[in-house]
Amino acid sequence: MQKGQRAFEHDETVGAALARMTRAFGEAGLDSAAWDARILLQGLLGIDGTALLTKPEQPIGSAADRIADAVQRRLAHEPVSRILGVRSFYGREFIVTPDVLDPRPDTETVVELALEIIKSAGLNDKAVRIADIGTGSGILIATLLAELPLASGVATDVSAAALEVAKRNAERLGVASRANFVATRGLAGCGGAFDLIVSNPPYIPSGEIPGLGPEVREYDPMLALDGGSDGLDVYREIAQEAACTGIAKRLVIEIGAGQVIDVEAVFRSSGWSLVTTKRDLGGHVRAVALEIHL
Ligand SMILES: C[S@@+](CC[C@H](N)C(=O)[O-])C[C@H]1O[C@@H](n2cnc3c(N)ncnc32)[C@H](O)[C@@H]1O
Repeated sequence: MQKGQRAFEHDETVGAALARMTRAFGEAGLDSAAWDARILLQGLLGIDGTALLTKPEQPIGSAADRIADAVQRRLAHEPVSRILGVRSFYGREFIVTPDVLDPRPDTETVVELALEIIKSAGLNDKAVRIADIGTGSGILIATLLAELPLASGVATDVSAAALEVAKRNAERLGVASRANFVATRGLAGCGGAFDLIVSNPPYIPSGEIPGLGPEVREYDPMLALDGGSDGLDVYREIAQEAACTGIAKRLVIEIGAGQVIDVEAVFRSSGWSLVTTKRDLGGHVRAVALEIHL
């Protein structure tokens, strides 16, 4: 335990542990102290929010040591999802390991826009082929295949370790038989044609990475963050590769806050035009749909 902090005892109640965790996180200046304490305790005890709040008198029992360890890790700024090893995304649970970006709620905007684009093209009940570039934990490809039961796809990543996590997540969701996982840059060597490419590439300008919060800077893989000097390197690769090979005529990509003008310019210079955008809950344009007529 951190200096000055009492150990968690087996006979300590759930309510008392929750109050102590919330206080410790608050005193350490963590933004979402109460939320973090609740989600951590639920995950470590294997109970839902209702049980947590309606049975505060239950003892924490043999979870005491796990709780103490989790509190130390959170106080060292490790994100809750990394401590628990899982993250909820678009209503499903995904494994998260140190090899993958911790999936962000904002990325659900990409799923929503991709489904809208597929629907507006009249393809939602067709056997569409989808490519996910830089799949990480596989949230985009696995969610889209789960939402579109006739769809199949290819997911790529330069990180072979990330691809292993993506495969496990696809298996957990029962969609692995409809997906191929390829360790490559962009879509190199994937062949074939796709009805839609989705991607949430690394887009942080290299110089901004040291200024990111410790939850991101110290725990997300650098490969998942660093988008080169202006943050646009992987967008350039995707824009050129997809246009040159004619591999797909529709793209839905995630962008960083404030990047829409620069990203549109990158894609326009390779022949793509903007179809529509979607904002995240914070009001930032987060997902961009593009098309190309070859
Ligand atoms: C921002 S993370 C996104 C992961 C996941 N799609 C998500 O939304 O949570 C970007 C991912 O792209 C991968 N990556 C980086 N450059 C790449 C490239 N040129 N081609 C393919 N994958 C790349 C990284 O290894 C990382 O897993």
